[in-house]
Amino acid sequence: MTARPSRQLRTLWLTNDLPPRAGGIEQFVANLLERVHPTSTVVVGPAAGLDGAAHDERQPYRTVRHSGSILPTARVARLAVEVGRLHRPDVVVLGATWPLGELAPTLGRALGVPVVALSHGLEAGIAQAGGGWLLARATRDLAAITTISAWTEEQLAPYLRASRHVRLPPGVDVARFHPDLDGAQARHAWGVPSDAPLVGCISRLVPRKGQDQLLAVWPEIRRRHPGAVLALVGEGPAGSELAQRAAALGPDPGVVLAGRVPWEALPESHAALDVFAMPCRTRWGGLDVEGLGIVYLEAQASGVPAIAGRSGGAPEAVIDGVTGTVVDGEDPRAIIDALDRWLSDPAARAAAGRAGRREVESRWSWTVIADRFASLLDEVVTSGRPVAG
Ligand code: GDD
Repeated sequence: MTARPSRQLRTLWLTNDLPPRAGGIEQFVANLLERVHPTSTVVVGPAAGLDGAAHDERQPYRTVRHSGSILPTARVARLAVEVGRLHRPDVVVLGATWPLGELAPTLGRALGVPVVALSHGLEAGIAQAGGGWLLARATRDLAAITTISAWTEEQLAPYLRASRHVRLPPGVDVARFHPDLDGAQARHAWGVPSDAPLVGCISRLVPRKGQDQLLAVWPEIRRRHPGAVLALVGEGPAGSELAQRAAALGPDPGVVLAGRVPWEALPESHAALDVFAMPCRTRWGGLDVEGLGIVYLEAQASGVPAIAGRSGGAPEAVIDGVTGTVVDGEDPRAIIDALDRWLSDPAARAAAGRAGRREVESRWSWTVIADRFASLLDEVVTSGRPVAG
């Protein structure tokens, strides 16, 4: 399914995850919206204030912001049906399967069109934590569901009631994230000398991502690599705890808490790094798990080796030993060994960077992924699946 579809479809999207908020689902949704029938698409998205309005104005698709979150409530259903009746879509797309799949029966019936949903890491976490019945319910009226990795597909498969499952991993914009970019400005902004070995984690600050483990091993890395700097970029609920941990490392620990970087500055931030590290780990009995990890793709597209944690589908984003290292995110020794290895060997870093770049160009480009999604919508609409009623 790689051919561009022959006709323009009218699509209605419903999503609670939409820029300007940062995050993987937001990236996923935005990149598909930009590339798949953008001018005949209307999106019903969550409240986002003035930033949201400025963001929406720049997009080729039209966005209708709800006054709150996009969850399967009667109010959201009414808004979506109202917008749908005006827009007359050929197909409805849900930005996430759970919980939005609960709206599929209402939307399918009211608008008389098939409903397709994307899935991410959370749905696989729900399956792992014993909530398979929730997924069976949420997928019972879907014409198709997409899965982001072999691991998530394996977790979800027993519970999916949708007519079709299609693998649709997230990707990376290989023209924006590029090894030729100059990271000097990002280093300058973070106060990092141009010749200091720089390890970075650019990600939402949540416990699963493992920034706490990076801080825990950092004194040992500094002992082996004096002058090395750890940059933790991003914001999130774990922010203040990470700041306390960094402060507890004493004066001059070689740690920068850089905060959120604007979307435009992300590629240069990656280009500033020598090694990317996000040693993620699974939590809460499997519920809090990494589906894949777009950040690993962004690092590799930038020619930077990536250290990933063995959680969910994350190991699928890196070729262990070739484009980076896969570690147990709860094993400080393994994290130290991986960081030490890449920091000690500039030639190996450069080779891994080249291999990572080749890999993302061939497998993880949004262009290819968006074509696959456009073909799926085409098939679903053409097959004229009867709408549940
Ligand atoms: N602009 C900006 N600023 N973007 C940021 C920042 C920041 O400070 N921090 C993180 N991001 C961006 C990253 O660059 C990346 O594009 C995205 O937010 C994070 O995506 P993931 O690494 O995929 O993580 P996630 O936990 O938010 O996403 C979930 O869904 C993804 C898509 O299906 C997880 O399940 C992932 O495993 C999955 O890949």
